[in-house]
Amino acid sequence: MVKRRGFIFQGSEIYGGYQGFWDYGPLGVELKNNIKKEWWKKMVYGREDVVGIDAAIVMNPKVWEVSGHLSAFTDPLVECKVCHKRFRRDTFDEFSKSVTGVGNVALKKEYLDAFICEDGKPHPKDKLTKEKTFNLMTEVFLGITEPKEKAYLRGEITQGVFVNFENVVNSSRVKIPFGIAQIGKAFRNEITPGNLTFRSREFEQMELEYFVKPDEKKSQETFEYWKKERLGWYTSLGIKKEKLRFKDHEPEKRAHYARYATDLEYEAPFGWSEFEGIHHRGDYDLGKHKLTYKDKETNEEYTPWVIETSGGVDRATLFFLVDAYHEDGERVVLKLNPKLAPYKVAVFPLLANKENLVNKAKGIYLELKLLFPTCFDARGNIGKRYFAQDEIGTPWCVTVDFQSLEDGTVTVRDRDSAKQERISIDKLPDYFQNKL
Ligand code: GAP
Repeated sequence: MVKRRGFIFQGSEIYGGYQGFWDYGPLGVELKNNIKKEWWKKMVYGREDVVGIDAAIVMNPKVWEVSGHLSAFTDPLVECKVCHKRFRRDTFDEFSKSVTGVGNVALKKEYLDAFICEDGKPHPKDKLTKEKTFNLMTEVFLGITEPKEKAYLRGEITQGVFVNFENVVNSSRVKIPFGIAQIGKAFRNEITPGNLTFRSREFEQMELEYFVKPDEKKSQETFEYWKKERLGWYTSLGIKKEKLRFKDHEPEKRAHYARYATDLEYEAPFGWSEFEGIHHRGDYDLGKHKLTYKDKETNEEYTPWVIETSGGVDRATLFFLVDAYHEDGERVVLKLNPKLAPYKVAVFPLLANKENLVNKAKGIYLELKLLFPTCFDARGNIGKRYFAQDEIGTPWCVTVDFQSLEDGTVTVRDRDSAKQERISIDKLPDYFQNKL
């Protein structure tokens, strides 16, 4: 469906694709942009204590050396000596412990790779190579003289915030506690990309780094506060509460920068999976970069602690799609929150071969299009047009019929209830505005 309707395409598909890279089609880009817009509205515009930045993807390689990513941003890699598949040792161990039959792992590609040989049998435990640490940073080579200089595509967007900490403090009126928000691409040379966009090598993150004064108790309260805020954001946009849960990281699973961490997980068709990470990074990063904060009122100088909320835009897009997908007999309905729906309104003439109906509908479409993402469809029969809009999540369909020519009203059909009401054409902008 995501390919047929233009949400997500395999990257470089005409050349056989490229593992871990995905493209967003005409509807996918709208959905993804809407998610980012709603996040920014909530996390930046909706607050007085957060400002945004947009840092470069490639940074001075020194940043990654100091941040610990070159030495510690790793996954444990092993190879099966029988089938030569490479996979993460921790994934293998996790599944060896929890899975009683191979059938249970049928859906999660990452686990399939880690668990099953090409002959369909589990990898023999005694035939795995010794574990190697595999660095996830993606190298790039820059410059015009040989050897070219090695740099890195950022493995997390976060470091761009830390290295600009002083710039932001000096150029804006922020005072601790405050946050810096950012949305942007990150790259990881993942061992086992898979499950559509869930684990890719190029992906987008939406992150908040919230700086607080060092204080164990208060920082824990801030951590709990952000957990609640982030959960609330997803449910306010329609994700079902029972499909969400927090899972604290075991100490050995924590990233090198985290004092403690929890994942917000979604119950995907391939099992509970991380949506967003909430991390207490303490003074790890600012400390490493030797950055401090001076309170202008008290003259007190200290290294702030950081509470981070780090969401994946691609995972959010995927899970909003999965959560919204409903089959109702032959009808497929994408029950996206209208704020996220690629099109808010579709306008149809009842019959495609009646010029006066088509012209009237076209006029309404052109007017609404200036106010909301709106599409026009005059193909096939009206039932099929409704079904097509249901499948892409358009919340309202406006149909121009013969009565419209007489009394200036149209029918507005609601996606979820399939109920129709008659509305005066001149009231349509207000009607949709109020609903949105
Ligand atoms: N700055 C902290 C950080 O990067 P993370 O838990 O490694 O933390 C945060 O990543 C979020 O980024 C994840 O919860 C996920 O949504 C997204 N993400 C991470 N790796 C990803 C990948 N390979 N493909 C898609 N999204 C990914």
